[in-house]
Amino acid sequence: MSPTLNASSPKQAKTDPSKTTYKIAVIGGDGTGPEVVREGLKVLNAVTKKSGFKLEFINYDLGGERYKKTGEILPDSVLSELKTMDSIFLGAIGHPDVKPGILEKGLLLRLRFELDQYINLRPVVLYPNVETPLANKKPGDIDFVVIRENTEGLYSGAGGFLRRGTVHEVALQDSINTRMGAERCIRYAFEYTRKRNKKKMLTLCGKTNVLTFAFDLWERAFYEVAKEYPDVKPDYAHVDATCMWMVKNPEYFDVIVTDNMFGDIITDLGAMIQGGMGIAAGGNLNPEAVSMFEPIGGSAPKYTGRNVINPLAAICAAGMMMDEIGRPEAAQAVEKAVFTALSSGKIKSLAAGKMGLTTTEMGDLVASLI
Ligand code: IPM
Ligand code: MN
Repeated sequence: MSPTLNASSPKQAKTDPSKTTYKIAVIGGDGTGPEVVREGLKVLNAVTKKSGFKLEFINYDLGGERYKKTGEILPDSVLSELKTMDSIFLGAIGHPDVKPGILEKGLLLRLRFELDQYINLRPVVLYPNVETPLANKKPGDIDFVVIRENTEGLYSGAGGFLRRGTVHEVALQDSINTRMGAERCIRYAFEYTRKRNKKKMLTLCGKTNVLTFAFDLWERAFYEVAKEYPDVKPDYAHVDATCMWMVKNPEYFDVIVTDNMFGDIITDLGAMIQGGMGIAAGGNLNPEAVSMFEPIGGSAPKYTGRNVINPLAAICAAGMMMDEIGRPEAAQAVEKAVFTALSSGKIKSLAAGKMGLTTTEMGDLVASLI
């Protein structure tokens, strides 16, 4: 799996004002994926009813079941079709009967790489009435965004074994950091921080004291790009300190930019402090081509088909998708409806089975508030 620049993909302007219909590929995927996706689509349908644009949903049955039946994970023909979409909405990947790694690498990571989705965008927001494990933190204290590089680093698949299975075996897993890859991610992060217009502080999360090659490159790229953004304050924190502050004083952060592996880890920490996987949404972005949005919670096999899983993360991911296709007013409508649903007190908890509402009822509630 190598990063591709994907020069052949359509790099059209995303905010074409004359565009009124958007083609969205829907991959329900495994476990509870299809259930949460269904609620996300319900909310999007409520949005388009009141807006001047249409969404055309095209379903793809990718995931563990298809792999078990046919051995196919992501056929090239499907990949070509996905490249023509305006966006992709993904439920979850991961099947209890499929060895871990096969679907993750063959589907999720392959899509990220093939579509060159070089940004992983993860807002970390504590909504009203949501319980955080952090003592004395309230909404407003936890409100930052992690921008994770999504196509390089330890995820590049570079490395190999020597003398595997012997007492002298060697395993190498290389972190690939290109100047181009780091810089485009950093530049996106500066732009994002400027547009977000809150504290206007961008923190580079790295490990310059130990990873003296990889983060030397990142740090130089960061401070060079920073000169183009005099209105944004560049800031630096080691990844271990970042974890500490995310727990101790999360209000410090505005936007964090980091590499693929550190980003993977700190965004799970972020999901927990904002109330768990039930509310954590993410986007895999190619700002010039096709992006993909997903709740980050996974397939939750034990809750599958029981109508008890929390769809809010999928609904929030659907909202983020509206922003990316160039419909920020629709994104705001979804965000506001989720906010109002949580403020209403009707949702008892974000944990599966403890919400006081079914999956379907949660979707109905948010849709009714659009
Ligand atoms: C994520 C996930 C993936 C990752 C897995 C499923 C491959 O944990 O989106 O953060 O490690 O990137
Ligand atoms: Mn992860």
